[in-house]
Amino acid sequence: MKKTLNPIDFDHRRKQFLNKIKKGIAVFPSAPEQIRNNDVHHEYRQDSNFYYLSGFEEPNSILLFDTSSKTPFQMFVHPKDATKELWEGKITGPEGAKRLYGADAAFSSIDSKLFDDAFIHALMNAEALYYRVGIHEEWDRRIFSLMKRAVRQLGRTGRGMWPIHDPIEILGEMRLIKTKSEADRLERAANITAEAHVSAMKIAKPGMYEYEIEAALYHAFRGQGAGRLGYGSIVAAGANATVLHYVANNKKLEDKELLLIDAGAEFEYYTADITRCFPVNGRFTAEQTEIYSAVLKAQKSCVKMARPGKSMKDLHNHAIEVLVEELKKLKVLKGTSSTLIKEKAYLPFYPHGTGHWLGMDVHDSGRYFSESYDTPRKLEPGMVITIEPGLYFGAHTKGPQKYQGIGIRIEDDVLITSSGNKVLTSGAPKEIEEIESLCNLN
Ligand code: GLY
Ligand code: MN
Ligand code: MN
Repeated sequence: MKKTLNPIDFDHRRKQFLNKIKKGIAVFPSAPEQIRNNDVHHEYRQDSNFYYLSGFEEPNSILLFDTSSKTPFQMFVHPKDATKELWEGKITGPEGAKRLYGADAAFSSIDSKLFDDAFIHALMNAEALYYRVGIHEEWDRRIFSLMKRAVRQLGRTGRGMWPIHDPIEILGEMRLIKTKSEADRLERAANITAEAHVSAMKIAKPGMYEYEIEAALYHAFRGQGAGRLGYGSIVAAGANATVLHYVANNKKLEDKELLLIDAGAEFEYYTADITRCFPVNGRFTAEQTEIYSAVLKAQKSCVKMARPGKSMKDLHNHAIEVLVEELKKLKVLKGTSSTLIKEKAYLPFYPHGTGHWLGMDVHDSGRYFSESYDTPRKLEPGMVITIEPGLYFGAHTKGPQKYQGIGIRIEDDVLITSSGNKVLTSGAPKEIEEIESLCNLN
C-alpha cells in the first residue's frame, strides 16, 4: 500500500479528481517563492490546491495528472542536493516523492526537459488540459509554448488546439464539502484562535499598543501549534475598527475605546476566521452596548438560521433585515423597512457581506451559485461558513454623532450539519457579560 505522510487521505482526493477530469490531463505548479530582497525570501506556503492533492510542501515542484497513463500521478520535485540541504533543510527528492507522497512516478524538476517532454507526451493522448491560467505568467508562457509544440506534432490531422479547463471548478466543489478530518482541522484552528482571542481580552488595557495585542495573538497561535496566520491580523482600536481592512496595528489603545480583532490561525493548512470586539477598559459604554447588541442580535439570528436548504444569500438578507430593524430602533435610519432595504439605506453602515466559505483559504473556493450560476446554492452538510455581520460609523458615514467612531463585527465559523450546524468558534465569548468579566480579569 502507498504511504502518505499525512493522515488526510490525499490518495482518495487524487482518485476523485482523476475520475472527474475523465480523459484529460492536469498540471499544478507549486506556489512560486517570493523574493523579499536580495537572497531573502518571504515565508513560503504551498498553493492550497497543490497541497490538497499532494500534501507536498516544497517549492519548485509540479504535479502532472494523466488519466491515460500507467503512472497517472507524476511529481516533478527538486532533486536531493547536499549543499542546498545544508542551507535550507531536508529535500524530499523524487525517490521520497514516490515513497512518502504516493507519486506513481517522480522526476527532477530542475531538468526542465523532463517535465516538458512528459507534458507533451501526455497531452498528445488527452482530450483536454486542466490548468489554472492567469495565476503565474511565467507558467502560462511555458504551458502555451508546450501546447504549440504539441499541436505542431499533430501534423495535418485537422485537429485543433486542446481546450483548457480551470480545475478550480472541480477542486472548489471537492474542497467545499469538508470530510471529517478536514472539519477536525478547522475545529482545531478554531479552538486555537478562540483561545488567542480570550488571551487578548484578558491582557488588553488602555496604554497598550495594537501591535502588542497582535504579538500576543501570534504567540498564542504558534504556542498552540498553528503553522501560521490564516491571513493578516486586524487589531483595530477605536475608529480604526471602521476601516474594514485595517492592518497597520500601530495605535495606542485609549480608555473607553473598543478593540476589534479579526484574526485566525492556520492549522495544517486549514484556517479559522474569528472577529471579536471588546472594551479596552473592560466596560462597554452605553452607545457601544447599543451597537454591539444590534450586531449580536443579527449574528445570533443568522447562526440559528444556518442549516441545509438555506443559502448564503438567505443569511445575508436576514442579517440586513435584523440590522435595519435595529438601526430604526436606534434612530439611525427612518422609514419603512421594505423601502430602506430596497434603497439599500443600510449600506453606509453595513457595507460587506455576511459570510463566505472557509477552509484552506480564508475566502475558500467553491461556487456560491447553482451549477447554472443563476440561483444562490443551498447550504449542505460539510460546508463551513463564516457568519460575520457588522455595523460601522466611520469617517465617511453620516450617522448620529454619539455613534461616530464605533465599528463592530462579530464573526463565527460554522460547520453545516444534517440537523443544522455546529459553531466551531464558541470558545470565543461574544455575550457582553462574558466579555466584560474576561476583560476585567487583569
Ligand atoms: N478576515 C477576513 C474576513 O473576515 O473575511
Ligand atoms: Mn471572514
Ligand atoms: Mn474575519
